[in-house]
Formats: sequence, C-alpha cells, structure tokens
Amino acid sequence: MTFNKTELLLLSFFFTLHSPAISWTTPSYAGRQGEWCLLQSNIGITAMHMQLLHDDKVVIFDRTDFGKSNISLPGGRCRNDNKDMALGVDCTAHSILYDIATNSYRALMVQTDTWCSSGAVVSNGTLVQTGGYNDGDHVIRTFTPCFNEICDWTEFKNYLSQRRWYASDHILPDGRIIIVGGRRQFNYEFYPSLSGTFKLKFLRETYDHRDENNLYPFLHLLPDGNLFIFANTRSILLDYNQNRVIREFPRIPDDVPRNYPSTGSSVLLPLDENNGRIEAEVLICGGARRGSFQRAARGHFLPATSTCGRLVITDQNPSWVMETMPTSRVMSDMLLLPTGDVIIINGGRSGTAGYDSGRDPVTTPVIYRPSEHPDWRFSTMSPSSTPRMYHSSAILLTDGRVLVGGSNPHPAYSFTGVVFPTDLSLEAFSPPYLSEEYTSIRPRILSLDQTLGYGKKFSVSFHVDEYLSDSVLSVRIVAPSFTTHSFAMNQRMVVLRIISITHESSDMHTLSAVGPSTAEIAPAGYYLLFVLHGDIPSTGAWVKTG
Ligand SMILES: *[C@@H]1O[C@H](CO)[C@@H](O)[C@H](O)[C@H]1NC(C)=O
Ligand SMILES: *[C@@H]1O[C@H](CO)[C@@H](O)[C@H](O)[C@H]1NC(C)=O
Repeated sequence: MTFNKTELLLLSFFFTLHSPAISWTTPSYAGRQGEWCLLQSNIGITAMHMQLLHDDKVVIFDRTDFGKSNISLPGGRCRNDNKDMALGVDCTAHSILYDIATNSYRALMVQTDTWCSSGAVVSNGTLVQTGGYNDGDHVIRTFTPCFNEICDWTEFKNYLSQRRWYASDHILPDGRIIIVGGRRQFNYEFYPSLSGTFKLKFLRETYDHRDENNLYPFLHLLPDGNLFIFANTRSILLDYNQNRVIREFPRIPDDVPRNYPSTGSSVLLPLDENNGRIEAEVLICGGARRGSFQRAARGHFLPATSTCGRLVITDQNPSWVMETMPTSRVMSDMLLLPTGDVIIINGGRSGTAGYDSGRDPVTTPVIYRPSEHPDWRFSTMSPSSTPRMYHSSAILLTDGRVLVGGSNPHPAYSFTGVVFPTDLSLEAFSPPYLSEEYTSIRPRILSLDQTLGYGKKFSVSFHVDEYLSDSVLSVRIVAPSFTTHSFAMNQRMVVLRIISITHESSDMHTLSAVGPSTAEIAPAGYYLLFVLHGDIPSTGAWVKTG
C-alpha cells in the first residue's frame, strides 16, 4: 500500500484522533536515529543480568564460575568456595552497583553462582534474585537499595524447592513472585516459599528434546490476574492460584521457536486505562528456526527469523497478526520506551543464543510504534560500534535512555582469539525523543504525589516552555525490568486516565489523574512515572503504587 501526501496527512490525523500515544510530533522524530554514548569501557564484569532500583542505581551481575573478573572485591576480601567450578578462592567481584547520576560503580559480593538466573523487585523495592547454577541453583539473594555505600547482597541457601536455572520470574498482584520453569523443570513455585512446587505439563510439552527452545519462558501478568506464558511456539493462560490452565492460544503461525536458545523476545504492550475495558496485547519478535542450535554447533549459522507476532490476549478468539522487522534477529532485547513504543536492541542476524552459537551482530536498534499504520511501524536507529551477542542485556533508565551492556558468548572471560570477545563496557542509547531540538516542548516534573492509590486521584505539576495543547498530554507508569537473556521480566506500562489539567501559568501546569485501577494492572511497588507532551517524555519520577 502506498499513500500520497494528502492521504498521509489524513491518516496521521486519523491516528491522532484514535490513539492518544500518537501526535503531530511523531513524523518529525520518526526520521531521527538516536545517539550512542560509551559510559564505561570496563566495569570489570559482563552485564549479563541488570535491574534498575528506585534509588537510581543499577544492580548488574554475571556468574561466579567464569574465572577472575576485572574488578576486585573491596577491602581485600575473597570468596572461598570449594564448590566453585573455576576458582576455589576468587578475590574478584561478579556483581556491581552502577550509579546513574555519577556514572560510577562499586563492587558487590555474591557468594554462590548466579549464572542464568532470574529476579523481580518486590513491593518494598528490594530485588529478589532467584536461582543460578551449581551451588547457586536453589539460592535466592536479596538486594535492598540503601542510601549509603555499604549495602550488599544477602543470600538464602536452599531456599528454592527446585533448581532454577534459566527460569523466568513475575511479580504477582498479591506481592508474591512466581518462578516458572528452568532447565528440565516442568513446574513453578513462589517466593515467599510456603507452598512447594506445582507441576506444569505445558513446559514438558513445549520442551524440544534436541534444542530445548522453551527456557526463559515469556511471562506477562494480565489485567484479570492470570499469567500468560509463552514457550517455544505455544502459549497459555495460567490461573496459578488454582494450578489450572484456563486457556490455550493458537500457536504462533510460522513454527519458529521463540525461547532459549532460539531466543526471541516479548513485551506486553502498554495497558491503557482510557479505553474502558483494558485490552492486553503481547508482542513477540525474533527467534531462530528449529534445528538452528544443533546446526550452529557444527558451524552453520542459519538466518534468524525476521518476524514478529501480535496477539490480543483479551479477545474472545485471538489470532496472531504477523509483521516483518527490517532484519532478521535473534537474542535481541525488547523494551517499552516512555512513549509506549518498543525498542528492539542487541543480538545477531544468524545462529542462536548459547556459547559461540550466534553470528552477524545487529548493532542497529529498531523502534517499533505499535499504534502506527502497519507500513510505518519500524524505524532503524543509528548503529553502535559494539556487537552485543549472547549474555548482553538492556534496560530503560530513569531519564529515558537505554542502558546496554554485556556480551560474552564464552564459558570464561575471553578477550583475544575469539570471534566475539567478552565485553565489559556499558553504553547508553538515547532514543530520538531525547534530542535537544525538543527541549522547548519537553515536560519537566516539578512536584507530584509519590503514592498512587488504586483508583485514587493524584496530581503532577510540570513545567514546559512551549505548551501545545491539552490533547497531547499523557501520563503513564513503567515497571523497570529484570533483564537477562533478551527477556525483560516484569516490565509493564500503564497509561493512566487524566481527569483535569490546570494551567497555573503559561509554562506551569498541573494535571490530575487516576492511579492504576487494580493490583492486577499494576502490582504494588515502585514505578517510573513519565509525563508526555506531544510524544516527548519528561524524565521519569519514582512513584509507589499500592
Ligand atoms: C583488569 O585488566 C587490566 C588490563 O588487563 C589489568 O591491568 C588489571 O590488573 C585487571 N584488574 C583486575 C582486578 O583483574
Ligand atoms: C523488603 O522485602 C524483602 C523481601 O521480602 C525483605 O527481605 C526485606 O527485609 C524487606 N525490606 C524492608 C526494608 O522491609
């Protein structure tokens, strides 16, 4: 389909009317490509797992059995671990805390192996990390943000009832965490651990005996409180309270597995409180064809898929709508940006996840605009100079940048003589909405109610130099993700309902809006609140729902 200029104008007018996320500014920044910035060339470890906390610090960790990292534990400490597979005594760190404001970091100490683990932040802001490998596979570890420089990990050995290696986590409306699957674990359990293990046949059925292809299942919590689980090519709706599968959705049409090692990624598109009944729609992009992992082991790197699928889970009879990305992609991260668009970043064009199994890095992020006309949804951004292959990760930062790090497709730190050397750097990608040319219309939050009660009114005051109109204002909250292995666990966005806008002066305004309606829509905890004005977001402000 092609359009002439008048039709395009009419269409953009149509989308302006029908989608609050789209405004007249979209076409102007659609042509821009964002900017990369190298934050740190060497943080000492590889950013395999990342989580932003509400003190604007990022917990980063890799694994303890990689050998020596490039950052020492402070105070001459060493880890004595006779079960460690690489070093019995290791005086280097495998976790750090990165401070966004000062672009600095300090070493943290994990005692047991965190390799290929999962996590979620509970309502009080503590990160609960679950599982890992070897002596760490039944361990949970907590990290509580502190405003001093000494807090560190606390470990609880033998906490989990099953080994959780390549599992996925999700925070639940009642404050628990559900921990789903893991290698040869066809079951789930909860944190806090009171109730033991629950079998899930779906995980056994989707386990591919040659290639697995169902590890790190994609989990999304729906507005009705049930959990959407996608593994391999299939998906279900799980009532975890009754251990009952209440629905199975159609298979994704092209038979390409989407989970590790055929690693694609997935997001729950923004939940919008403005539309009456809240619709929930899942987007899955990338992945690798069946057999790709085995072929990669023999040195044949098959092209990854370039397809994405969208499924409106809340429909009576949902069916997948397929779309095509500008390139094929595997091991790419997908993040919700403050605008409600999705960035697809990192990964390669061929092969799969796993040690040395991927090739052809895709260094150009792509921004996907879910509510645009299908022909205009993907925009390719400027390239990074760093390949981000297996064991890379990405998260959204408070100010709307995307933090990118990691890449270590090797069983140890390997810097020379390999196709993709271990990467210890951290970069930030600034999407086009951060461009200085939008300074005059960028909102700046001046004050706000820091607690958003369910269904309760709250207000935000903000400054903007050049106010456009009430119709281009929007307010939304984003739950920061625990990202690893290309899946951003727990990430969600809720677009809130604005009830009034007061103009205090020509450049100062106050909006009143309503907090998320239920804990199913936004489980209690810390979120980043963004005000959008003409599709240009403010910096995020931390709020607490509940
Ligand atoms: C990190 O690497 C540099 C350069 O190879 C080396 O000089 C330094 O000793 C390393 N530091 C640690 C703690 O391993
Ligand atoms: C927050 O919750 C965690 C996990 O349940 C708990 O370990 C921690 O003590 C709590 N922190 C505070 C400050 O209450």
